[in-house]
Amino acid sequence: MGNFIERGGVTAPGLSHEKLWEFVPTVKKGDTVVPGMVIGEVQETNILTKIMVSPRSKGGKVTEIKSGEFTIDDVVCTLDTGEEIKMMQVWPVRVPRPVTEKQNPDIPLVTGQRILDGLFPIAKGGTAAIPGPFGSGKTVTQQALAKWSDAQIVVYIGCGERGNEMTEVLTEFPELEDPKSGKPLMERTVLIANTSNMPVAAREASVYTGITIAEYFRDMGFDVSLMADSTSRWAEAMREISSRLEEMPGEEGYPAYLAARLSEFYERAGHVETLNHESGSVTVIGAVSPPPGGDFSEPVTQNTLRIVKCFWALDAKLSQRRHFPAINWLNSYSLYLDTLSSWYDENVSPEWNGLRVWAMEVLQKEAELQEIVQLVGSDALPDEEQITIEVARMLREIFLQQNAFDPVDTYCSTEKQYDIMKSIKVYAELAYGAQRIGVPPAKIVTIVSKNDLPQVKFMKDYKSEIVRITKAMEAEVGTLREAYQK
Ligand SMILES: Nc1ncnc2c1ncn2[C@@H]1O[C@H](COP(=O)(O)OP(=O)(O)OP(=O)(O)O)[C@@H](O)[C@H]1O
Ligand SMILES: [Mg+2]
Repeated sequence: MGNFIERGGVTAPGLSHEKLWEFVPTVKKGDTVVPGMVIGEVQETNILTKIMVSPRSKGGKVTEIKSGEFTIDDVVCTLDTGEEIKMMQVWPVRVPRPVTEKQNPDIPLVTGQRILDGLFPIAKGGTAAIPGPFGSGKTVTQQALAKWSDAQIVVYIGCGERGNEMTEVLTEFPELEDPKSGKPLMERTVLIANTSNMPVAAREASVYTGITIAEYFRDMGFDVSLMADSTSRWAEAMREISSRLEEMPGEEGYPAYLAARLSEFYERAGHVETLNHESGSVTVIGAVSPPPGGDFSEPVTQNTLRIVKCFWALDAKLSQRRHFPAINWLNSYSLYLDTLSSWYDENVSPEWNGLRVWAMEVLQKEAELQEIVQLVGSDALPDEEQITIEVARMLREIFLQQNAFDPVDTYCSTEKQYDIMKSIKVYAELAYGAQRIGVPPAKIVTIVSKNDLPQVKFMKDYKSEIVRITKAMEAEVGTLREAYQK
């Protein structure tokens, strides 16, 4: 026995068959149960796992229900149809688990990442792709999402990527605390380790196993988020298996059913009413790695793009400039903006949606002005646009840039996101106001009080500091106005 799987394969039981679990029934003898219904609960780590009647059962009347410690192979409930229910459920991974109904995804998955929550939000039950060239930050972004998104269960599939990334998750997650529950993050995380040195067929298995586990927890009424890093390795596995089966190759050698397989996978995401009539969701976020030198026109990215509703495009130029997360704000998008806007209105601020629109306008304006700036420098721009350039720089460097490795900055609450964005807007209004009465832009963009703003990101108790900086900016611009008004 070495470190590698031998020819012929191995069978490894996924679950311990000896361990005893405390089963607490929630139905009693004589009750009628239907498919998907919860019959009892088991406390597993800090997650209260529900034991459900299989969706494939016909249901019936409970003739016996047990209580106490059992293994997953023991029968805990018997129905009048003769069916015996165990705590373990078997399910074919390629078949989506049924639900009562799909619902509108109208609650955001808060990620704690400013560029995502602020500009390109994703809904609970939504789909997103993170395409990006080698080393642009796909894994760091996926891991940040696994750590900080406000899902109750996280399924992380390492599919065909480096083993050390899996080790990182295994060593880091038990040390990190869930910002909501205060418990170790590992307790809500399911990790599917399928590293690059494993057989390609295992990649298929890892993706389908992951989504099925996610659906299983969703059926208990949880909000689950699933990260797959990287779906391109799975697509390559499809290509390899398909060519060995001597199937007709499609675009770039991928099988003709590539698009269908990808969409079947992403379609298993959703905000649903479960068979047990609770609300649950599966959010699917897949990384896509175009081949070296390749761009987003390759088949996996293109086919993914057609399906997902959030596109967070990583950009090699940004990562080379050390702008992290290297998500390009000009070609990324979210199709959930409209459905989520009322949630942000009610839960963050009625100003939130307006601030986002304003920030996007400033950033787009900057992109238009970039060409002129590169040719003749920003001094040649009209006064107002010189200020726009400075405001855009602040948005990029203070709001968009976020250090995943800083203990505080790695997670930013929506309240803090709002406060930071708002303080930049305050500066913008002061600056345009002063420029209109004739203060030279060079004076306005160099006020010193705003230099403390970037530090706010790294402070846990930042509120009083933001108030102090805002007052200082008002005072400094006020002095400038007085000097030029005379
Ligand atoms: N948000 C971030 N904050 C700080 N540094 C980052 C961030 N995102 C990425 N980086 C830097 O970029 C490096 C590469 O990121 P990562 O490993 O996630 O890239 P990748 O796209 O997954 O690459 P590969 O294609 O090799 O899998 C990281 O090691 C880190 O130094
Ligand atoms: Mg990676």
